[in-house]
Amino acid sequence: MNRRPLALIPARAFAVLAGLSMLAGLSLLAGCEFSDYTIPTYQKGYKPTQPISYSHKLHAGELKMECKYCHFGSEKGRKAGIPPLNVCMNCHKVIKTDSPQIQKLADAYKAGRSIPWIKVHNLPDFVSFDHSRHVNKGVACQTCHGPIEEMQEVRQYAPLTMGWCVNCHRQYNASPPPGLEKQHIHASIDCTGCHQ
Ligand code: HEC
Ligand code: HEC
Ligand code: HEC
Ligand code: HEC
Ligand code: HEC
Repeated sequence: MNRRPLALIPARAFAVLAGLSMLAGLSLLAGCEFSDYTIPTYQKGYKPTQPISYSHKLHAGELKMECKYCHFGSEKGRKAGIPPLNVCMNCHKVIKTDSPQIQKLADAYKAGRSIPWIKVHNLPDFVSFDHSRHVNKGVACQTCHGPIEEMQEVRQYAPLTMGWCVNCHRQYNASPPPGLEKQHIHASIDCTGCHQ
C-alpha cells in the first residue's frame, strides 16, 4: 500500500524541477524583451572625443560619401572597420593641406603610424556580432547607428543590450520587411547564436 506514494516521489520531484527550470527559462526570455539596463562601458549616448576632429556630418552628409567607401569591411565579415589613412589621403594629399588637423593626418601617414581612434561601440567579448550577416540582408547602418550623416562626432545611438538584439530578431522572424521571405531569414534567438 505505501509503496506507490514512495515510488511517486522521485517522479513528482522531477516534474517540479522540470517545471521550475522551464519557468526560469521563460522568465529569462521574458526578461530579454524588457531589459534595457546599461553597463558603463557601452552606454547609449557615449561620445568620446577623438584625436582628430573628423566629421561624419561633413564627409557622409554634405559630401555624400558612401559609408562603405570607408567601412568596406561591413559586407565581408564581422568588422565594419575604421579606414586606414591612405583612404583619407586619397583626398587630403591635396585637399585642405593648410589645416593643422590635416597636417596631423599627413604626418602620421608619412611616419606609417595610425590614428588612435577611440572605439565608440563596445560589445562584451562573450557576444558575437557579425556586420555582414546584417548588412547583406539589407539592414541599414542607420537602423543600428542612427543618423550618422548628421553627427559631427559619432555617439552610440542604440542601447546594444541583449533585449535590443533579441527584439529585432523576433520582429524579423514574425514579419519580415517587404522583399524578404520568412524562410530566408536566420535571425536566431538561440542563446548559442550570439554566445558561442
Ligand atoms: C571618409 C571616411 C568615412 C565615411 C564616408 C564614413 N565613416 Fe564612419 N568612421 C570613419 C572614421 C575615421 C571613424 C573613426 C572616428 C570616429 O569615430 O568619428 C568612423 C567611425 C564610425 C562609427 C563608430 C565606430 C566605433 O564604434 O568606434 C560608426 C558607427 C560609423 N563610423 C558609421 C558610419 C556610417 C553609418 C557612415 C555612412 C552614413 C559612415 N560611417 C561614413 C570614417 C568614415
Ligand atoms: C544590426 C545592427 C547593426 C547594423 C545594421 C550595422 N552595425 Fe555597425 N555596429 C553594430 C554593433 C552592435 C557594433 C559593436 C560591435 C562590437 O563591439 O563588436 C557595431 C560597430 C561598428 C563599427 C566599429 C567596430 C567595427 O565593427 O569595426 C563601425 C565602424 C560600424 N559599426 C559601422 C557600420 C556601418 C558603416 C554599417 C552599415 C554598412 C553598420 N555598422 C551596420 C551594429 C550594427
Ligand atoms: C572624397 C574626399 C575625402 C576623403 C576620402 C576624406 N576627406 Fe576629409 N575632407 C574632404 C573635404 C572636401 C573637406 C572640406 C575641406 C574644406 O573645408 O575646404 C574635408 C575636411 C576634413 C577635415 C577638416 C579640416 C579642417 O581643418 O577644416 C578633417 C579633419 C578631415 N577632412 C579628415 C578626414 C579623415 C580623417 C579622412 C579619412 C577617414 C578624410 N577626411 C577623408 C574630403 C575628403
Ligand atoms: C535591426 C534589426 C537587428 C538588430 C538590432 C540585430 N539584429 Fe542580428 N540579425 C538581424 C537579421 C535580419 C538577421 C538575419 C540575417 C540572415 O538571415 O542572414 C540577423 C542575424 C544575426 C545572427 C546570425 C544568426 C543565425 O541564426 O545564424 C547573429 C549571431 C546576430 N544577428 C547577432 C546579433 C546581435 C548580437 C545583435 C545585438 C548586438 C543583433 N544581432 C542585433 C537583425 C538584427
Ligand atoms: C540576438 C543576440 C542574443 C541572443 C539570442 C542571446 N543573447 Fe545574451 N546577450 C546578448 C548581448 C548583446 C548581451 C550583452 C548586453 C547585455 O548585457 O544586455 C548579452 C548578455 C547576456 C548575459 C550577461 C548579462 C549581464 O548581466 O551581463 C547573459 C547571462 C546572457 N546574455 C544569457 C543569454 C541566454 C541564456 C540566452 C538564451 C535564452 C541569450 N543570452 C540569448 C545577445 C544575445
